[in-house]
Amino acid sequence: MESNSTSASAAAPGVRALAQSVAAPLTRAAIFLVATVNPGIENREAVRSFCGDLAGLYRAVDFRDVEGALSCVMGFGSEAWDRLFGTPRPANLHVFREIRAGARHAVSTPGDLLFHIRAKRMDLCFELATQIMTRLGDAVSPIDEVHGFRYFDDRDLIGFVDGTENPRGEAAIDAVLIGDEDPAFAGGSYVIVQKYLHDISGWNALSTEAQERIIGRTKLSDIELDDSVKPTSAHSALTTIVEDGKEIKILRDNMPFGRASHGESGTYFIGYSRSPRTTEQMLENMFIGRPPGNYDRLLDFSRPVTGSLFFVPSATFLENVAEDQPALAASPAAPTVVEIAQSPKSDNDGSLGIGSLKGEISHE
Ligand code: HEM
Repeated sequence: MESNSTSASAAAPGVRALAQSVAAPLTRAAIFLVATVNPGIENREAVRSFCGDLAGLYRAVDFRDVEGALSCVMGFGSEAWDRLFGTPRPANLHVFREIRAGARHAVSTPGDLLFHIRAKRMDLCFELATQIMTRLGDAVSPIDEVHGFRYFDDRDLIGFVDGTENPRGEAAIDAVLIGDEDPAFAGGSYVIVQKYLHDISGWNALSTEAQERIIGRTKLSDIELDDSVKPTSAHSALTTIVEDGKEIKILRDNMPFGRASHGESGTYFIGYSRSPRTTEQMLENMFIGRPPGNYDRLLDFSRPVTGSLFFVPSATFLENVAEDQPALAASPAAPTVVEIAQSPKSDNDGSLGIGSLKGEISHE
């Protein structure tokens, strides 16, 4: 039996934890790769040792086209975290909770590891994914791989511009990176993924006006509908979360995907947040309704076939895993300061694709 005693111990005060590239800008191509870690201590050790190798693999592929905006985020499911790192564990990490309401079902599917690989060119994404899977070898089993593409003016396959209301700049960092609320994991983030398949002919049979009332925005010009005409069940209404008068945002990088010969059209939903509760609340509003029954009609035409929650530790944590020394996460005792640095893509700073928006958590 494997032991859970391998510890992801906390960093000494003064250590700076560099965030992974969760807030990388939208790109033209992406690969979403979910895998499970095979049973056995040797496989667990292979994955731990891989964590320290990822930055090197990234640098090797990135350097082949430094203008390609390649980035890679690695996340861990709840059970995988316990197997790989034991304690301490991220405060809000748990298995994705399924939701059933009427005909709607947000399924929970297996996933120990997530790789979210983005670039301007699919060949860069594919090369890095190939290098990652080659290095991991028999230690993992693939569960799902989706190749996403940008569709016209950042539209999803239902024809609406997707991503407009994403937070930007400092607001994006604030929305996704953990700070003082879980100091041992400052600089980390949570991410929920769901692969949705659309009933595209059913959707296209609706009038444009009906579609606009479902999304809550105009289709061509992407302008938010006025509150006097926007239904409370609109997608953009149900996914707006306000707490104590403040809107709580997540950062999405949804991508269309599909197989024309199979009549398959889909949206791969990916949402980063500093607490999974925000995205979970949005999902409850969408599937159950706010109030219950007032659900998101987008779900009459879109059905998730996967659903998983992952924790994204800092890049510093990943690079230090194999060494199994302290300095993996931030010190619970140390106050955290979030610094935002703008740096050119070509600086090859050794971080995992943190080129344009870098969240650095420094512990003074
Ligand atoms: C079939 C899957 C989905 C599609 C096609 C889709 C599409 C869209 C579109 C077209 C918009 C309006 C433009 C924008 O602000 O980005 C939007 C907004 C948004 N969506 Fe989704 N979405 C999907 C699933 C989800 C899920 C599962 C969540 C969260 C759990 C979510 C959260 C949001 C949020 C937070 C907004 C911004 C709302 C606002 O502030 O106005 N979406 N989505």
